[in-house]
Amino acid sequence: MLPVIRPAELAPMIVLGIESSCDETAAAVVADGREVRSSVVASQTAVHHPYGGVVPELASRAHIEAIGPVVEQAMADAGLSPEAIDGVAVTRGPGLVGCLLVGFCFAKAWAYGRGLPWVGVDHLEGHLHAVMLAADAPPFPFVALLASGGHTGVYYMEGPRRYTLLGQTRDDAAGEAYDKVAKMLGLGYPGGAVIDDLAGRGDAERIVFTRPYLDKTQFDFSFSGLKTAVHRYIQTHPDTYRTDQADIAAGFQAAVVDVLVHKLLHAAAVHNCPRVVLAGGVAANGGLRARLTAEAAAAGIAAHIPPLAFCGDNAAMIAAAGYHHLQAGCRGALTDDVYSRNTRPLPAAGPTDCR
Ligand code: KG4
Ligand code: ZN
Repeated sequence: MLPVIRPAELAPMIVLGIESSCDETAAAVVADGREVRSSVVASQTAVHHPYGGVVPELASRAHIEAIGPVVEQAMADAGLSPEAIDGVAVTRGPGLVGCLLVGFCFAKAWAYGRGLPWVGVDHLEGHLHAVMLAADAPPFPFVALLASGGHTGVYYMEGPRRYTLLGQTRDDAAGEAYDKVAKMLGLGYPGGAVIDDLAGRGDAERIVFTRPYLDKTQFDFSFSGLKTAVHRYIQTHPDTYRTDQADIAAGFQAAVVDVLVHKLLHAAAVHNCPRVVLAGGVAANGGLRARLTAEAAAAGIAAHIPPLAFCGDNAAMIAAAGYHHLQAGCRGALTDDVYSRNTRPLPAAGPTDCR
């Protein structure tokens, strides 16, 4: 497979990114994996809110309705016609199969019909590239914490397409714990932003929950015990838990943030790495952003946090990651299928491999 050679003096490589792995239909146009020309995200929150979680069948149908208009909007916002696109990057997995298929098939057809190269991108790899869209994008290497609704892990990133998974959750993801605690408190779906907001008004020291550090020297996580502790607190305080909501949220958030920040900075210290990165929907958390910024500064480590718009699911991050695969000569095949689980761990990718 021949790499695409584009000398720096040539025009930038313009990639159309498409994302539909869960409950956001998104498209974006990104130049050289860094410069966002447009980013459109159509959220399905209103569709799923009444059910307290994502309903896969409804999500797939909503993607089908949204995908065409969202891609057209991204092209219009970028002020480009399809002829200006050099390649297409689309989320291949992990995620909900019915949802993934909508974006994946759309992208295949969009690229094939125009004779353009296209490539499938791992959703987690996309999140890890969101920080590259920030004005102060970090140089490699860095240690990254990816905390989303489906995943929580720490990665050592030596360069584009070169990752090592250092540790991950043994049970619930951090975002999943947020969503479940919000549901227990009757705050609806999704719960992260609501709990974050409540926590800002509560006393984090009044109701203290255990910190699931597991082995403090390793980089794995566990959030299911913390979730159960909140559940037990609610059950044993039936008369007061509603009025104490802000303190419960603050206590829960303090426990999550403690563990995430501790593990990330510890991983940076062990790998003698001077910079860390946040990624995933939970990276939008105000408490986490503030604590990491302060503690990293105190430890002499640079903390890079993506802009809020690129923490949750979006297609700009998929275009940013896909750019490197396209540059390396990786190409999707029409027979390629999506994958629902994280069965293709990122470390499997080497700088010259295509998956
Ligand atoms: O990355 P993402 O958009 O989707 C997945 O790949 O899972 O992450 C969604 C998760 C949800 O669990 C949501 O509750 C959480 O990110 N989240 C937050 C915040 N905003 C979103 N968690 C904590 N604080 C927030 N401000
Ligand atoms: Zn995501």
